[in-house]
Amino acid sequence: MTANKRIVLSSDHAAIDLRKMIADHIVAKGYEAVDIGPMTPESTHYPKHGEAAARKVASGDCALGIILCGTGQGIMMSANRVDGIRCGVCSEAFSARMIREHNNANMLSIGARVVGQDLALHIVDAFLDAEFEGGRHATRVDMMEAIEG
Ligand code: RB5
Repeated sequence: MTANKRIVLSSDHAAIDLRKMIADHIVAKGYEAVDIGPMTPESTHYPKHGEAAARKVASGDCALGIILCGTGQGIMMSANRVDGIRCGVCSEAFSARMIREHNNANMLSIGARVVGQDLALHIVDAFLDAEFEGGRHATRVDMMEAIEG
């Protein structure tokens, strides 16, 4: 587990219940859940929630982020627009582990309309329990970070 145990969570309206479940789950694992909402079910826009969560990670306020929307895709794309963010969508635990170990992902995105609740928690566990392996993977992550538009 990282020294900074603050994990930011956010979602759009499609994933509020699952996000709250994940927040409870990670608190039980010993993390601090920084749940920035939204808290009410009105239709909202995933880009602003993806960006808000990403800025918490990019600033160093939170060590990692977990974001959700219906597919996980739109909020992931939004978060990845913020400098320093490496976010992947995962629908199974293997990829969730690998994006930490090989890609040094600092955010995980999940589609609440794609995976069930139990699987989502397994995905979260795989992501949080894994650590970046460095070495040749650090070279590649550095190359990725150096890409400019
Ligand atoms: C909202 O209906 C839906 O478009 C959103 O949750 C997400 O799936 C977008 O990527």
